[in-house]
Amino acid sequence: MPAVHVLNGPNLNLLGTREPDVYGRATLDDIKTRLAEICAARGIELLFRQSNHEGDLVDWIQEAGKAGAPVILNAGAFTHTSIALHDAIKGSGATVVEVHLSNVHARESFRRHSFIAPVARGVIAGFGADSYVLALNALFDREERKT
Ligand code: DQA
Repeated sequence: MPAVHVLNGPNLNLLGTREPDVYGRATLDDIKTRLAEICAARGIELLFRQSNHEGDLVDWIQEAGKAGAPVILNAGAFTHTSIALHDAIKGSGATVVEVHLSNVHARESFRRHSFIAPVARGVIAGFGADSYVLALNALFDREERKT
């Protein structure tokens, strides 16, 4: 595993103050720090990014696919709308774990559909910031079983 790419979509830069009853009080920087510690302990590079723009996420998924780096993707609302992200994952061959802080299935019905899930290796939702940690551990476990 060359590196883990953690990609965050629209409005996730607002974590900490954005609907804390739904998303918790951890900021995106807090999440990055937690993941960085876990990756550092294993000597694995972490690339952690956020953008409010769909095209940035498309570029970054393609980049990860090319590098053979697994992706933890919280595409935010693009999860429910973006054929472009679906195609980027499929087209680049990137291994993607879809994550959500909230349990999207227990919320509005429009959040129940994901364009990412059909092309993802797996989906983790509903555990707050721990969703990212669970995804990271799933990737590491999978990598260890391969060797
Ligand atoms: C989210 C869930 C999405 O429905 C929402 O649009 C987000 C955050 C989550 O992490 O729970 O922006 O991806």
